[in-house]
Amino acid sequence: MSSPTTFIVFGATGDLAAKKVIPALFYLFEKGKLPAGFNIVGVSRKAMEQSEFRERMGNIIRKYSRGNVDQRALDRFVDLFTFSAVQFDEESGYQELANALDTKDRSQGKTNRLLYLALPPKILPSIFTHSGFQNIVRQGVVGGLLSRVIVEKPFGVDAESAEVLEKSLATCFTEEQIYRVDHYLAKDILQSVTDFRFDNNLLEHEWNSDSIESIRVRLWETLGVENRGEFYDHTGAFRDVGQSHMLEMLALITMEKPSSYEAKDLRLKRLEILSALKAPTADTAIQSIFRAQHNGYRSITGIDPESTTETYFSLRTEIETLRWKGVSVYLEAGKRMHEARKEIVISFKAPYKNKVIFRLEPQEEIVIDFITKKPGVLESGIEKRAFTFKLYETPSRTQYIAEYAKMILDAIDGDQKLFVSADEVRATWKFTDAVRALWENNLVPLASYAPDTDEAVVQANAIILK
Ligand code: BG6
Repeated sequence: MSSPTTFIVFGATGDLAAKKVIPALFYLFEKGKLPAGFNIVGVSRKAMEQSEFRERMGNIIRKYSRGNVDQRALDRFVDLFTFSAVQFDEESGYQELANALDTKDRSQGKTNRLLYLALPPKILPSIFTHSGFQNIVRQGVVGGLLSRVIVEKPFGVDAESAEVLEKSLATCFTEEQIYRVDHYLAKDILQSVTDFRFDNNLLEHEWNSDSIESIRVRLWETLGVENRGEFYDHTGAFRDVGQSHMLEMLALITMEKPSSYEAKDLRLKRLEILSALKAPTADTAIQSIFRAQHNGYRSITGIDPESTTETYFSLRTEIETLRWKGVSVYLEAGKRMHEARKEIVISFKAPYKNKVIFRLEPQEEIVIDFITKKPGVLESGIEKRAFTFKLYETPSRTQYIAEYAKMILDAIDGDQKLFVSADEVRATWKFTDAVRALWENNLVPLASYAPDTDEAVVQANAIILK
């Protein structure tokens, strides 16, 4: 049973809150999943009347529901909100918020505190230094109650900056209180990987280097960098989705069976894989990494006209564990690709080269390629057929919202299994920095590709699959 919780959103009038966090809260509200005594405090720089803030929240939901919303439900939802203005670089606002929360606790009963930091990463470390902020966290932890914090990626831009962020988080929170978001872990099809692998007695015995030839994690997007030019140009495809989503996908598909499905055991097993990744070296870089930028990228707003940031990468690596040694692991992602395709493909060895595919897009499905006799009593030849298990016959999910809702609910319940541990972050940066050091030392040239074509894939395969 979830405990009563005060959900405190820093950056409540920002983009992330409007697109994901507030709609996700409404999703939970509509499904009756929020615990009794749940209330939301929106925090933003801009001073605002309570009524104006609630009006804003209502408008966000109307937009997200495309006007198709029950007004009475919406009225009850916006009633959960109060607003507090805090200048993030000034002490006073934090202390006023801490006092307001204490007053509310006294009049309405105590609740757990769940902080959501929907703020630009640059300003995070300074926030934790304010004693008023520390009071919000500390005073939440009395009489058996808890304070927790949800933090969004990017967790730094390399191992060093990630460590700085971790140190500053640690001034206010213990590891048990920190919920680092990687929304891919909450994706339905990826949540199902653990059960598919360990709760069926079908494939797990073949899930190793004796039977499997390669594993490919692919994340092709037709979208470009949209209006995030400046952020993306300092990030690039590999840090944007490789370091986080794709390495976690790889960890899920390859980890050893955990002793339980509890957060601590699952996170440990993911970590074992992330720590065993073998980075390409200066000698192998040129045959195992390809990176490219799509034509036209440099004229996008916010992007350096001489930018060398990659919008596509493809690389081959290996997992140095007993189970996986010798199996090629391919990671490949790109923007402005010819099609949207996000999947993990497990390819079995010759002669039959069966495949098992966990696909997120264009359809959430699990596909198994089998060899079978051609149909027809007079036929005796063989052919490849696919068994397809579609998660939904008609895709009905709302992009991101359900995933964010799941993560918020788990954080309310204190379940960290779909959140990334500090050690996982460290391991992913170690691998990422090693790869990036090779291209920063000009060992991997930057190629180009025409947007909305498969040019990048063709070029990459010619190098990496050779
Ligand atoms: C985000 C990246 O983390 O993941 C985006 O910053 C990317 O660039 C997105 O588009 C992909 O997520 P999804 O859920 O749309 O597959």
